[in-house]
Order: sequence, then C-alpha cells, then structure tokens
Amino acid sequence: MKITVTVNGTRYERETEPRTLLAYFLREALGLTGTHVGCDSSSCGCCVVVLDGSRAVKSCTMFAVQADGHAITTVEGLAQGATLHPLQQGFWDAHGLQCGYCTPGMLMTAYALLQRDPDPSEHAIREALSGNLCRCTGYQNIVKAVRQAAAMMRTAASHAPASEAPASAPASAPEPVAP
Ligand code: FES
Ligand code: FES
Repeated sequence: MKITVTVNGTRYERETEPRTLLAYFLREALGLTGTHVGCDSSSCGCCVVVLDGSRAVKSCTMFAVQADGHAITTVEGLAQGATLHPLQQGFWDAHGLQCGYCTPGMLMTAYALLQRDPDPSEHAIREALSGNLCRCTGYQNIVKAVRQAAAMMRTAASHAPASEAPASAPASAPEPVAP
C-alpha cells in the first residue's frame, strides 16, 4: 500500500506492507533509527513517537498504514540544528539517562505531555511516564529532567514575541517532500 506521512515536517510517500509496524517503517523505510524497539509488545515505551502534535503512541503497536495522512514527530525532530530541545537539555543537565536506550521514548512521551500540560505536577509526570521503562536511572533524574524542561519552555514562551513560534516547537514548516 502507498501511504503518505509527514515526519518531523517532511512529507514522505512510501510503499509499505499492511503488516509493517510503524516503528519498523520509521527505522527501515525512512532510516529514522532514533525510535528504538525494546520489546515489540507494548511494554517498554522505547518506541514512543508523537502523533499529530500531542499524542504519545507506542509505534510497535500501530501499523504504518494507520499513520497514513498523519503527522509524526520522532526524537530526530526535537533539536533545532545544534540546539538541543529543552527536554534534551533537561535530560543532559539532570543526568536523566545512562545507557540511553529508553531515552527517545522518554523524551517523546514527555514532549507529548508538555504539549498538553505546560506545567505538569510531579505526579502527572510520573503518570505520563508510567508506560516507559528504564533499566538504568531509577527514574528520579528523569522526572527532574522533565520538570526542568517544562520550566525552560514556560520561560521561553513567556519571553517570545507573540508573532514567534515557541522555542519548544520542533521544525515543521515549510514541509519539504522527501524523494
Ligand atoms: Fe514498543 Fe517496547 S518496543 S513498547
Ligand atoms: Fe538505560 Fe534507561 S537509560 S534503559
């Protein structure tokens, strides 16, 4: 089947088998290997991407064809050139990772949360991340990282001129078409 998806602001038209999971479509058809696969069974959260701006989805539980016509943000879409997204900076500053395998999923789950709730409580952060497993960090620093990022993003939004997009928004426009 031919599907059209917009990933990190770039429009892709690709043929895919109906059985292909979105995680593998992103990694193998588009080469976006930042989306990790840890369990393939909806348990670990390594594969989380953001659908249509604010919805965290486990891409191992969704077929690529179900994403037809939708916009997807992956971890590759967070940084603006050499400038880390506040969430990435937060994980860096608060030591929110060790091996890093879970980190793309943590970042994207947190990204979706902050799109919906710019000032989440610690409880809300822990609840949002409850589907993301980390074998290394013990979670405390991950929560600290998200809180730091939320504060950075609120500060950036309060200083941004009304005509400018928030500093937290990943690149999305114009929408180039991939060959
Ligand atoms: Fe998708 Fe583990 S790989 S939840
Ligand atoms: Fe290693 Fe989370 S940093 S699994």
